[in-house]
Amino acid sequence: MLDHIKQTDPETFDNILREVLRQEFGLEMIPSENYVSPAVLEAAGTVLTNKYAEGYPHKRYYGGCEYIDKVEELAIERAKKLFNAKFANVQPYSGSPANMAALFALTDWGRQGKKIMGMALDQGGHLTHGHKVNFSGILFDVSSYKVDPKTHYLDYDAIEELAKKEKPHVIIAGATAYPREIDFKRFREIADSVGAYLLSDISHIAGLIVAGVHQDAVQYSDVTTTTTHKTLRGPRGAIILTNNEELAQKINKIVFPGMQGGPHEHLIAAKSVAFAEALKPEFKEYGKQIVRNAKALATSLIENDGTLITGGTDNHLILMDVTKNGTIGAEAEKALGEAGITVNKNTIPYDTRSPFSPSGIRLGTPALTTRGMKEKEMEQIGVWIMEIIKNPKNDDLKKKIEAEIVELCKKFPLYPELTELAQKYLKPSSSFSIFYTLSIKKSFKLWKKN
Ligand SMILES: Cc1ncc(COP(=O)(O)O)c(C=O)c1O
Repeated sequence: MLDHIKQTDPETFDNILREVLRQEFGLEMIPSENYVSPAVLEAAGTVLTNKYAEGYPHKRYYGGCEYIDKVEELAIERAKKLFNAKFANVQPYSGSPANMAALFALTDWGRQGKKIMGMALDQGGHLTHGHKVNFSGILFDVSSYKVDPKTHYLDYDAIEELAKKEKPHVIIAGATAYPREIDFKRFREIADSVGAYLLSDISHIAGLIVAGVHQDAVQYSDVTTTTTHKTLRGPRGAIILTNNEELAQKINKIVFPGMQGGPHEHLIAAKSVAFAEALKPEFKEYGKQIVRNAKALATSLIENDGTLITGGTDNHLILMDVTKNGTIGAEAEKALGEAGITVNKNTIPYDTRSPFSPSGIRLGTPALTTRGMKEKEMEQIGVWIMEIIKNPKNDDLKKKIEAEIVELCKKFPLYPELTELAQKYLKPSSSFSIFYTLSIKKSFKLWKKN
């Protein structure tokens, strides 16, 4: 395992092993991250990476695609089945290019409609939903919708009013930091009331939709995009779905040759493996547990004086205003990271602080749920998070919690073979006699190569 990297590139080998240990012995709570299965990992590392296959199955610009065609066809069929869609394009390299392709398909490269409407970034939307530094805000005229200033829930009546005033060509539904269920049916009605296309970006919640714990988007949308690496638990990448044949043809042309060259077939194979996993009944249980865990974590945070945007969560994600506990997002992110809890600083709706130094943090449960943690662990993690947020400078506290986290993680192993390998080649220095009983992060610095 990784033998060849070890021989060819010891530095990269070393960095990979350190990341293995970081993932194995830390709490990954960034809501857009997850741990893929060994099967997905294997598929992503196959010889399929060698193959050029510009075009689509059976219409390629390269020879030797007979097996690649089968790989991509299988991925398409599984994506369609998973989301109950008539058409799927599995080639987008990632979520941002998928959104770009979808917007271009719905507007004929911006020639048939310049105005789009999406959720503002500082309210929970994504850069590609119309932010001014992104292609979506540069090439299109944008009118962004916000959440309700008091409840921080989406206010569909206000969105409808804005749509009637602005008459956008495309309305984008979907978010990157919204802790509540999105009503795609209502978005459809709003889009219909102004003759707009509805583009739904379900990147964050795709796995929850598959599990039936979030309202479906595909049946209400003209086009749906999703990354494959978040709650869907696949490799980095994205897909585009639609039930409209004309739009499907436009999307295919825009993805290739419009925007991309050769598809990354090793990742398409890995997407396909992830889709096969998501089609199994166990995945439904996984999705349900993500939400149960997020709710248990929310309860624990609130019981320990946390201030949650909207007062809780319906999905996999929690947005917290840490200024109420005397700190700021960046400081909380750093302090939690020092104890082995990875979260990200985030603006909260109507933040009075800057995006570089926002008031909040964003955290979620997809990755911890993958490793088998349940409500009991969430309750404890909520206590730790709040202790650190209230005492971000207390190094002894962080050290104590970090050691407890290592113990917890040992009960929920992630990649045992890789971890064993890392333990073999990254030995603690002689100053550490008992592996993992001391701070993992501190010992990183002291590890030396075999
Ligand atoms: C809602 C949403 N759409 C699109 C993307 C972009 O995906 P990628 O980072 O793969 O380009 C993200 C990523 O965070 C996202 O949250």
